[in-house]
Amino acid sequence: MKKLLRNLSAMALVAIFFTTFSAMNMPQDQPEPWPVPDEYKNMENPVKGDADALKMGAMLYKRHCASCHGREGLGDGPKARGLKTFSGDFSGDYYQNQTDGEHFYKTLKGRGEMPGYENKIPDEDIWAIVSYMRTFKK
Ligand code: HEC
Repeated sequence: MKKLLRNLSAMALVAIFFTTFSAMNMPQDQPEPWPVPDEYKNMENPVKGDADALKMGAMLYKRHCASCHGREGLGDGPKARGLKTFSGDFSGDYYQNQTDGEHFYKTLKGRGEMPGYENKIPDEDIWAIVSYMRTFKK
């Protein structure tokens, strides 16, 4: 009986070790394509080129988004390690070739681990953040 218990606890330890170890090294999933309805895709950014909005966007981005997306938008914020899905590289073509309307829609609605900000951040402030995220372009 004692031997059985010892074996069981050894097995439990091994199991705990492997779960922790594999969780630490789990590669992040690449995000699935994220379709955006046309009415959003073609929306104009109402604060485009507005310097004050850009400052506001920078402040709000650091407060709400940088924890996951990273200060430079590379997807490497302090919370990123805990995410199953890679949050994206905002400096690259895949992101920068999308319209402001697409960025606005995704921020508004969210998906999976990406929170939606509808009713949390006013629309005009989301547009300001969208403008700020253009500055991450390489
Ligand atoms: C808790 C972590 C987290 C926070 C906080 C967060 N995001 Fe995200 N974001 C993600 C993840 C994960 C994805 C990828 C989701 C997917 O594609 O399924 C994502 C995707 C996006 C995308 C789509 C990127 C693309 O490649 O098309 C945009 C735009 C975006 N986030 C903007 C923001 C903005 C703006 C904020 C702050 C207002 C923010 N996010 C806050 C985790 C986060």
